[in-house]
Order: sequence, then structure tokens, then C-alpha cells
Amino acid sequence: MKNKLEEIARQSIDAIAAAANPEALESLRVKYLGKKGELSAVLKQLGTLSSEERPVIGQLANEIRARIEDTLAEKSAALQTALLERRLRDEALDVTIPGKEFAAGARHPLRIVWDECVDIFTGMGFSVAEGPEIELAEYNFTRLNTEEGHPARDRQDTFYFTDDDRVLLRTQTSPVQLHVMESTRPPIRIISPGRVYRKDEVDATHSPMFHQMEGLVVDRGITMGDLKGTLNTLVRRLYGDGAKTRFRPHHFPFTEPSCEVDVQCFECHGEGCRVCKGEGWIEVLGAGMVHPRVLSGCGIDPDEYSGFAFGVGLERLAMRRFNISDLRLLFENDIRFLSQFN
Ligand code: DAH
Repeated sequence: MKNKLEEIARQSIDAIAAAANPEALESLRVKYLGKKGELSAVLKQLGTLSSEERPVIGQLANEIRARIEDTLAEKSAALQTALLERRLRDEALDVTIPGKEFAAGARHPLRIVWDECVDIFTGMGFSVAEGPEIELAEYNFTRLNTEEGHPARDRQDTFYFTDDDRVLLRTQTSPVQLHVMESTRPPIRIISPGRVYRKDEVDATHSPMFHQMEGLVVDRGITMGDLKGTLNTLVRRLYGDGAKTRFRPHHFPFTEPSCEVDVQCFECHGEGCRVCKGEGWIEVLGAGMVHPRVLSGCGIDPDEYSGFAFGVGLERLAMRRFNISDLRLLFENDIRFLSQFN
């Protein structure tokens, strides 16, 4: 029995030394020291020994149990230490490695003036309306008082989808006026920024796709004074309090009377220079009092209501704002150019 006990001691200590993880260690503990383990099996036979042998073997068994327990505890501690060391190594953080650089994006210069205009007008109580870019000629032209035969309707100037010239890419944001007046009753106060399309060759000041912002106000008693006050506010907010405006008579089919609004050249203050091409003034937008036919075409009684409307070219605003000399730069998507404007 003494031999058997020493055999158990040797085997268990070798096995414990070879255990690779805490789970293996635990099953060895059960195997050798558990209630149904090998050591218990031997101790159950103590009764068969003589009274001289029994205390000797009993003591030896206790010693061996203590040895196995110590070995288990040591091995367990060693495994924990190894585990910790591995984690420390695997999760090591080298704070001296240079970080990854994240390039911050910049708003497109067009988006900057777009946002600025929306801010200025929402501050005056306007809301933003949207309209379709694919439009009926009826909305883009006819109901804006632009009859068949008007030069703007020419196939040379407009992208038509169908041979009957009924559907087109809108050439202006003005048809949004009609959509709004059809779906809401006065008082109306909206702006509508968006893309428009014309059959223009690309050059420093033209692009077949560009952006406009339409504005429309309809209520009782709206006058040219309201138009001037609103547009003067826009110009001063965009170009500074000192900016001087000039309202020059013009013609648009859907407004009567109509005007173009010029800003005094900020480069030469009206003297005439390269920036304003010697004019002293720079045109910024078209505007006018909504034509009575346009109102009544949307079911709004022109004897009860009046309104004003305007249309601004956003590329032109951006080019002036940032001193950009060539429109193409806005659409070429060269990051080196675009990242300059925040
Ligand atoms: N739609 C005109 C254009 O594309 C701009 C314009 C002028 C809009 C006068 C208006 C307006 O609402 O009243 O040139």
C-alpha cells in the first residue's frame, strides 16, 4: 500500500507539472484528491491493515495529500501569472506610435453660401420648400406666363425629355412658386434652393447645371417696399452693412414690375474696375411683383393678394464671396481647391 501511495504521489505531481490550464488542473484535483479519487480509494482500504501499519500508512497518506495540494496551489499560481503576463504582452499599448490622422472635411463653397442664405431667410420667417428637377414645361414656362415661342423655350436652350417638349429638366427654380401656391394658401413665405439646367457650353461663367435660390412672399398688402426691404437685408447680411444696392428696371414674364438688383462693387466702390468690368455695379439677382396671371393661375385672387418673388444664382454668390474667378473650379472636385473655404 505504501508503494501504491508513492506511485500516486509521483504520477499526480508529474501530471500537475504538465497541466496546461486551470481546467486541466481542476480535473487532476478531482482525479487524485476527490471523494472518488485515487487517494480516497487507497484510504478506504486502511481497515484491512494491521494496527501497527495503519498509523504509518495514514500519516504517509496525509503527507502525500498535503504534497499534492501544495503542488496544485503552486501550479495554479504559476498558471495565473503566465496568463496575466500573456495578457499584458498581448494588450500592450505603445503610446509612442504616431496616431492615425483623420482629415476633417470642409463644406463646399456653394454649400457655404447656400447655408448662409437659408440662415438669413429662415431668420426672417421664411421656410424652405423643395420642387422637382424634372418638371413639366407647363410649370417651368407656360404657367409662369412664358408662352410658346418664348426664346427660353427653344430646344437650343433647354433639355427636353420628350419629343413633344412636355417634360424637361427645369431651367429655373421659379416653378417651385407654382407648386407652393397650389398646395398652400397665403400668407406664403418660402425660399427654394436647388439645381437647374440649361443647354450652355461650359466656360468660366457657364455650366449646364447650376444652382439657384427662389424666393416667394404672398399675402395681403405686399408691396415693392417689402421686396426692397427683404432683398436689402439679404445683400447687407451677405456683403456687410455698408453694401449699396441698386434696383434696376428689367423684364421677367412672371413678375410685373420686374427688376434686377445690383450691388455696388466692393472692389472700386462704384468707380469701375476689372472686378465689375468697369460698371461700378455687380448684378446679383432678379426679382419683381408676382404677375396677377401667375397668382390667379394658382387660385389666388390677385385683387385680394399680392406678392413678390426673386431668384438668385448661387454660383455667382459663391464666386463673389470667395473671389473665385472660374466657375469650373466649383465642379471639378479638386480637394486642394475645395478644402480652402471653411
Ligand atoms: N427665374 C429667373 C432666372 O432664372 C430669376 C428670377 C427673376 C426669379 C425674377 C424670380 C423673379 O422669382 O421674380 O433668370
